Amino acid sequence: MSAVPTTPALPTLTVVEHPLVQHKLALLRARTTPTKQFKELVEEVATLVAYEATRDLVLEPVTVDTPLEAMTGHKVAGKKLVLVPVLRAGLGMVEGVLRLVPSARVGHIGLYRDHDTLAPVDYYFRVPGDAPMREFFLLDPMLATGGSASAAVASLKAAGATRIRLLCLVAAPEGVGRLAADHPDVRVFTAALDRELNVNGYIVPGLGDAGDRLFGTR
Ligand code: PRP
Ligand code: URA
Repeated sequence: MSAVPTTPALPTLTVVEHPLVQHKLALLRARTTPTKQFKELVEEVATLVAYEATRDLVLEPVTVDTPLEAMTGHKVAGKKLVLVPVLRAGLGMVEGVLRLVPSARVGHIGLYRDHDTLAPVDYYFRVPGDAPMREFFLLDPMLATGGSASAAVASLKAAGATRIRLLCLVAAPEGVGRLAADHPDVRVFTAALDRELNVNGYIVPGLGDAGDRLFGTR
């Protein structure tokens, strides 16, 4: 799996450049891709991004009795990871990440962008109570202005979380910059870094409105 930090100007960012990710992203971006396939592709790309985003998880030794002898294997150290989808669109990534980390806990953050101001409006928050002990994976397919991601991270930190990563599918440079300025400790893993935001705050070339395409509410 190849993954590269994109540019020294965006030191918190890792773009997952695997050929399968690029192939699936092209299908995901196409305006003709129907809802059912869009949902499947979001899950598949989320799995591949999660593979890269979990690369440096800390391990601890564990003794395993194979049918032949005892040996020292490894397991992920510490408490179960927490996946936190940002509603709505982040929900589309949950199953894909759970495929790799099936015992992860799942929190939820409800946020939407006000259509006029683009400012995030929050309406729901629920994560495990022992947040300081856990590693958090925030899930949201789109990092546009970065307002939603920055607010979501602030909510997690207010709940005591100290180890937070953001997994997304398409990021804009503006959003990566905003998140790095507000929360320089949060690494971002994405399948694509797109050109820019348009005047309506949409990522271009992007894939459109991720929530509407996932849930067929366009
Ligand atoms: C989308 C997306 C992000 C946010 C990104 O959600 O899923 O949460 O926009 O934009 P930002 O970086 O400029 O904040 P949206 O507000 O459309 O809500 P939805 O998922 O409920 O459709
Ligand atoms: N939210 C989306 O769903 N798409 C964008 O391009 C920007 C924000």
